[in-house]
Amino acid sequence: MNPPHAIPATESFKTVRVASREEAEEVSAFLLQPGLFGTPLTPGEQEEFKTHPATAVGCADDAYWLVRDGQGAVCAVIGVRMNVEKTGIFEVSALAIHSSRRRRGLGRRLLELALRFVAEAHGRGLLFETSSDPSYAPMHSLLHALGFRQVGRFPDFYYPGEDTLWYYRAIER
Ligand SMILES: CC(C)(COP(=O)(O)OP(=O)(O)OC[C@H]1O[C@@H](n2cnc3c(N)ncnc32)[C@H](O)[C@@H]1OP(=O)(O)O)[C@@H](O)C(=O)NCCC(=O)NCCS
Repeated sequence: MNPPHAIPATESFKTVRVASREEAEEVSAFLLQPGLFGTPLTPGEQEEFKTHPATAVGCADDAYWLVRDGQGAVCAVIGVRMNVEKTGIFEVSALAIHSSRRRRGLGRRLLELALRFVAEAHGRGLLFETSSDPSYAPMHSLLHALGFRQVGRFPDFYYPGEDTLWYYRAIER
């Protein structure tokens, strides 16, 4: 018999678009949990993860999705928003999978879902801002695997020694 924390081989995951204040709060709590990301959140990220999921509820251009595991706990989140220029380029505002649920295809599935959302919204492309820190190597691999290409780098953007990397994928028509 499996120990209580073991993940059943056939565990089912359920993905839902965040549609209520309660779900938005679950997303915020998930994103703000310690140790989810490989580097400390910046003050701006902390503020955004606290407020943006709730702001996005009912919004046409901004959206979050959460994934529940077989026990109903949130185990993955992605957020998307139209960028500040409002001319059809969208950005991923957050993507994270709980460490116990990585390498099961959830990251790929959520990023593909975000690309479909942008295409259905008649967006021109999806921008993904990520860190140069080596702990983000899995994210860089996933972006390459889904056809994103690196279009920019801003040295020391997050913190001294931690650059931001911009990856972009145009939406084919
Ligand atoms: C990056 C992250 C989202 C990937 O999610 P995931 O569900 O584990 O990834 P998937 O199982 O869907 O893997 C899809 C592809 O990503 C790449 N990848 C994922 N994890 C990897 C790893 N540890 N090493 C190398 N490549 C990896 C591979 O190309 C993989 O394809 P493959 O399985 O055919 O080799 C996840 O590791 C995570 O949440 N990390 C912490 C938070 C984070 O860094 N978020 C990004 C913020 S900018």
